[in-house]
Amino acid sequence: MRLRSVYLGVGAHLPDNVVTNDDIALRVDTSDQWVVERTGIRERRVAAVGEKTSDLAIAAARAALDRAECAPSDIDLIVLATATPDLTFPATAARVQAALGVAQGAAFDVAAVCSGFIFALATADNFLVRGQAKRALVIGAETFSRIVDWEDRATCVLFGDGAGAVVLEAQPEAEANGRGLIATHIRTDGRFHDLLYVDGGPSETGTVGKLRMQGNAVFRQAVEHISGAMVETCAAAGVPLSDIDWFVPHQANQRILDGVARRLSLDPAKIVSTVAHHGNTSAASVPLALNEAVRDGRVRRGDLVLMEALGGGLTWGAALMRV
Ligand code: UT7
Repeated sequence: MRLRSVYLGVGAHLPDNVVTNDDIALRVDTSDQWVVERTGIRERRVAAVGEKTSDLAIAAARAALDRAECAPSDIDLIVLATATPDLTFPATAARVQAALGVAQGAAFDVAAVCSGFIFALATADNFLVRGQAKRALVIGAETFSRIVDWEDRATCVLFGDGAGAVVLEAQPEAEANGRGLIATHIRTDGRFHDLLYVDGGPSETGTVGKLRMQGNAVFRQAVEHISGAMVETCAAAGVPLSDIDWFVPHQANQRILDGVARRLSLDPAKIVSTVAHHGNTSAASVPLALNEAVRDGRVRRGDLVLMEALGGGLTWGAALMRV
């Protein structure tokens, strides 16, 4: 019997603390005008002292379970994408599992930085369609405020904190009515590992480190690879791009969203953009955007949604899902 990973619900959580561009301009030589013109970002959320990635993830997971009408006892797989874990180990997913009261199955983290949620979706999908798990929580959660160099104006204006989660259930394909994950496509090209990285870690430096990025080079790769992943994912599924109801991209920079839209002749009205209010929340950005579009009624049951992302690694990918 062929199985399909069917979407049951989405949830998200943002820290309360809003930091505007003007707030950052008090600390480094920048301006609201520069940040809005170059990125589209107006504000971002920053976790409070003591507010951990797992705290955001737990709140997002609870919201997703609620929407999916699932109990913790229904979940037997948690895949959590993060580049900002609470601790080096155990996996942040293990803390989330315990806090939710999930007492069965497996829970682990996936490290693919800003592409993490797409990688986590692809990972969970493989467990579900092989019958190795029945219901999965797929979470993207980050506290990039902890690894941003607040003295570096070229990067500190870009990132924010938050979490999002979806619940997927393995269902017989014959009963899924075409709903669920249709295709995923993930890629890594480690030759570009030094375009976007953190200059610390347990093995190399024994420190946590700060984020470093060659923004221009990443920008060029982003438009090219994201467009390619979207085209390949749709081609693998035999779905023309014109059939997509909603594009839910990683939210790094409005100019990247616009660049991909121009390259693929996408209708801008179909692109969900939250970058103005969330900034780049890395692995959390796709489920945060999906949550917003589901909550405000844009994305409805039966819609075809194409998600995509690119991040450190370099990693990139896309996932096609009928909601
Ligand atoms: O999610 C993971 C993937 N990450 C991304 O996708 C990020 C991709 N990159 C980008 O989004 C853009 O490259 C940035 C937003 C990071 C930068 O935009 P840019 O148009 O590529 O600017 P730039 O780096 O070429 O810098 C242009 C100028 C420089 O000054 P000079 O050398 O021309 O005098 C920078 O020093 O802007 C200056 N600059 C700033 N000025 C005011 C850089 N950051 C700032 C700032 N405020 N915050």
